[in-house]
Amino acid sequence: MTTTEANEVTATEPNAEGYKQFSLGGFTFRRDEFFAHITWPTGSHVLSVDNFLRALQRDVAWDFFYGTVNFDGVFGTVNHYGTVDMFAGRYNDAYRKAELDHVENFETPLIRETFKAMLDDWTNDGFDPFASPAETGKPFGEKQGSNTAAVTRRRVVASRMVGVPGDEPLRTDETHPINRMFADVAQDEPVIEAEPGFEGEVCAFNLFAYLSRSDVTWNPSVVSVCEASLYCPTTEEYILPVIHGNDRVEWFVQLSDTIHWEVEDRDTGAARAKVVMKAGDVAAMPGDIRHRGFSPKRSMLLVWENASPELPELIASGRAPTAPIDF
Ligand code: PHB
Ligand code: FE
Repeated sequence: MTTTEANEVTATEPNAEGYKQFSLGGFTFRRDEFFAHITWPTGSHVLSVDNFLRALQRDVAWDFFYGTVNFDGVFGTVNHYGTVDMFAGRYNDAYRKAELDHVENFETPLIRETFKAMLDDWTNDGFDPFASPAETGKPFGEKQGSNTAAVTRRRVVASRMVGVPGDEPLRTDETHPINRMFADVAQDEPVIEAEPGFEGEVCAFNLFAYLSRSDVTWNPSVVSVCEASLYCPTTEEYILPVIHGNDRVEWFVQLSDTIHWEVEDRDTGAARAKVVMKAGDVAAMPGDIRHRGFSPKRSMLLVWENASPELPELIASGRAPTAPIDF
């Protein structure tokens, strides 16, 4: 084992397939040509490496996101905003009953650096974990190069709004060509007719045109911010690579095409609902569920987040409801 002092990532020399093995607390991570192998003191687990890398990429880029990021029904992380739980079987009824589940809590920088190092080492040249499977190479096989530019790409996070001077720029043909599936999306920009004296204070942009140029999938960008109210639209194709467990309500506005959602109980995984969202549909996903989306065609989804830091505790203690409306 070698330990890098600066970030405390613990990794071995490359194995027979060329990949380092990582450990964090009682967990170990090994990859071979097709799979990620995870062990913990009471068990072990195998995931297809394509799903593992796509989930890992999102956990890293979203800095552990809101609440729970399940890589599948067994392994994942829970964000406590300063520390992160890493778990196996904790939100799986069968593992819990068999007492095979395991949770450890880490300071965020340590798990962040370990996950970043593993993502970079395990991602081969030609595979982009954020891209639609239809638009990237395969992750499988022995280690072959790397794709650091893709796995460290900057996430769009506006401080006020995309297009505001000094904030996140609009996308152009040079930086972001229109995606093959959005060739018919109009590219005109709104005409702003500001009252005299307010010319420098009014901004607008074409969100559909902006999204038609996204080169990633299942990766909400923050395009506008009003205090804790974040508009996080995203373009989707194929399957959301994580099963997201909410710690607050999230609103979805389906801007185009269709997404099928599987909604489960956040803690046990018991099925709760199937939701088919078509263009124009609006849904509030409760604060006590987990969900995974399936998008048969590339689609546009607006995820509306309330980033108030007090929400998880208000919901966990029962002082705020898990759903915004009672029928
Ligand atoms: C979600 O968990 O709510 C989510 C995550 C990523 C997406 C869309 C929705 O692209
Ligand atoms: Fe979610």
